[in-house]
Amino acid sequence: MSAKTYPVLKSAKNRTLMDNDTYQKWYRESVENPERFWDKHGMRIDWFKPYTKVKNTSFTGKVPIKWYEDGITNVSYNCIDRHLKAHGDDVAIIWEGDNPYIDKKITYNELYEHVCRMANVMKKHGVKKGDRVTIYMPMIPEAAYAMLACSRIGAVHSVVFGGFSPDALAGRIVDCESTFVITCDEGVRGGKPIPLKENTDTAIDIAAKNHVIVNKVLVVRRTGGKIGWAPGRDIWHHQEVLTVPRDCPPAKMKAEDPLFILYTSGSTGKPKGVLHTTGGYLVYASMTHKYVFDYQDGDVYWCTADVGWVTGHSYIVYGPLANRATTLMFEGIPNFPDAGRFWEVVDKHKVNIFYTAPTAIRALMGAGDEFVKRSSRSSVRLLGSVGEPINPEAWEWYYNVVGEGRSPIVDTWWQTETGAALITPLPGATDLKPGSATRPFFGVQPQLVDNEGKVLEGVADGNLCIIDSWPGQARTVYGDHKRFVETYFSTYKGKYFTGDGCRRDEDGYYWITGRVDDVLNISGHRLGTAEIESALVSHHLVSEAAVVGYPHSLKGQGIYCYVSLMAGEEGTEALRQDLVKHVRREIGPIATPDKIQFAPGLPKTRSGKIMRRILRKIAEDDFGSLGDTSTLADPGVVDDLIANRQNKA
Ligand code: WTA
Repeated sequence: MSAKTYPVLKSAKNRTLMDNDTYQKWYRESVENPERFWDKHGMRIDWFKPYTKVKNTSFTGKVPIKWYEDGITNVSYNCIDRHLKAHGDDVAIIWEGDNPYIDKKITYNELYEHVCRMANVMKKHGVKKGDRVTIYMPMIPEAAYAMLACSRIGAVHSVVFGGFSPDALAGRIVDCESTFVITCDEGVRGGKPIPLKENTDTAIDIAAKNHVIVNKVLVVRRTGGKIGWAPGRDIWHHQEVLTVPRDCPPAKMKAEDPLFILYTSGSTGKPKGVLHTTGGYLVYASMTHKYVFDYQDGDVYWCTADVGWVTGHSYIVYGPLANRATTLMFEGIPNFPDAGRFWEVVDKHKVNIFYTAPTAIRALMGAGDEFVKRSSRSSVRLLGSVGEPINPEAWEWYYNVVGEGRSPIVDTWWQTETGAALITPLPGATDLKPGSATRPFFGVQPQLVDNEGKVLEGVADGNLCIIDSWPGQARTVYGDHKRFVETYFSTYKGKYFTGDGCRRDEDGYYWITGRVDDVLNISGHRLGTAEIESALVSHHLVSEAAVVGYPHSLKGQGIYCYVSLMAGEEGTEALRQDLVKHVRREIGPIATPDKIQFAPGLPKTRSGKIMRRILRKIAEDDFGSLGDTSTLADPGVVDDLIANRQNKA
C-alpha cells in the first residue's frame, strides 16, 4: 500500500471548520470526558425537553446503550421546522432524474408541506407511534418524505433497497411485522423501469403466507406505468395527500424511541434488523456530516448512495437536512447516458461536496479520463469515499483526475451498525494517505486485538474493535437483543467487534483491510455468504453450497459459489445460468454469482465443518499455499476443486 502523504488541504474558500490543533483538543476531551463533550454537542439539535442525563452505556452484560435518555425531541422537526423561520425558501433537496433533462428543487417550506401531508395520510390510515412502516422506493424525493413523515409521527421506518427481490422484501416485512408499505408504481434506472409495485404485490402475498398481513400500500406515481391494484388496500399518494391538512404536529419522541430499522447482512442467518434510535443518532449523524464534509452554509452536497442503505439514511437525508444543507438526490446510475454523468451533474448543480463509493470510482476510472475532462468540476472542493477499502490507485485517480489535486478525499469508514462515520479524515485537520481512513472521529476509541483478544499496541494488524459507545451506535437487533449482544459484544468481551480487519501504522493511522468474517462486500454492498448459500440450496437440484469472496477489479469482491448437485445431476452451462437467475430472484441482482463451480464434494473437517479457508484460496487461484489439509475428512476433494477452478490465471 502506498504510504504517500498528502497535506491538509484547505477548502476553496480557504477556510475549513476544523484544524489539527482543534481536532487534537476536541478528541482528547471527547475520550477523557465524554459526558461533558457530548453534553455540549447534544445541543446541536433542538429538544422539546432538554436532557439532563447524557451517557448511560455499557458494553458488558445486557449491553444497555442510552444517550440523552430523558430528552424529548423529534427528528423531522429538527430536519425541517426549525429551519423554516429564517430559511424556508432555501433549497433542501435537489432532485436529478435518471433522465438528464429532468430535475427539480424542493425548498424547506415545500419539504415541510410534503412531509406533513404524507404523515397525515399515514395517520388517516391508522399508522401510530411505534408502528413499523416499510419503504420500498426508488431515489425520488418521496422516499425522503416518507422517511421524514414516519419520524414526524413516531412510526419506525424500515427502508428496503429497491434492488431487492420480492422474497427479500417479504422477509423484511415479516421480520418487523410491518403492515403499512410505501412504494411507487415503477422506478427508473439507466432508462429501464423497475417494477416496484409488482414486486411489492408479490412480497405481500409471501408475507401473508407467513402470517403478516399488509393492510395498506401507499403508492407514489413515478412513471404512470401499468400496475396491479388491490382496491381497499392500495391507495394513491397523489390523491390521498389532497384529502389531509398541510400541517402535522411533530410527535414528542424520547431520545431512545426507535427511529428506524435497517436490515443488514451478517456472517450467519438471515439479515438482521439493526435498530437506531432518535436523539443520539441525530446528534451523531449531523455532527459527522458537518465536520467530515466540512459542510458550510450554502454548500451543495451530493452523496450518490441509495436511501436503501445506511449511507442514504445518514448522509442523504438525516445528517444533511438536520444541518440545513442542500442535499442532492440522484435517481440514476453513474454510466447513463454515459460515464460522464456524475461530472455533468456536478457542473449542472454546482456541487461543492461529492461523496461516492470506490466501486463507482473504479468503474469510471476504467471508462477513461475523457469523460471527466469534458466537465469543469470547478465547484468541487471536497471528495468522499465510503463502503469498502479504496485501493490507492483509485484514490490517486479520484484525487488527481476528478479533484485535480485541489480537494481532500475523506475516506470514511463506518457501518450500518455505527450509524455514521467513525474513522475518517477531517478536512483542514488531517494529512491524507491514499487507502487509509486515517483517524477516529470525536468520541471514537478504536482498538486492535488478535484472534485471542489480546490488545495490540502501536503498529499492528488485527481485528478492529471499538471500546466505548458513541451516540450514533445501533441499540439492538429488532426483536432479538440476544443476537445483538452475541454478534457484536461476545467475540471480544466488553468491546464492540466490527467484523473488520485493520492495520495501524506508525502515525496511528487506521487502514481497514476488509471483513474478517463471512460477510462479503460486493460493490460496497454487504452480503452474507450464508444468505447466498441458502438461496442456492433452495434450488431443487442443489444439495449443498459454499460461497466465498475473491478479489474483483471492479466490484472489490466477487461472489464465488461452490455447488454440489443432487445425485445423478450434471453441472451443465444451462444449469449454471439457471442458478444465477435463481439467486437473483431470491435475493436480488446485487447477489448475482460471478463464478459457479460444480463440486462433487466440499472440503470438510471430520466434524463436518466446511473449511472456507481452502475454498477462498482456490477461488483466488492461490492454491500453492493451502496450508494443512490433513484434518479434512476426504483430502481428495481438494484436487478436484483445484482442477476445476473457475479463476484460472
Ligand atoms: C466496509 C456502509 C474500508 C467495512 C457505510 C464495513 C469500508 C462495511 C469503508 C460496512 C471504508 C465501509 N474503508 N471499508 N471507508 N466503509 N467499509 O454496513 O467492511 O453497508 O464493515 O455500511 O463496509 O458496510 P455497511
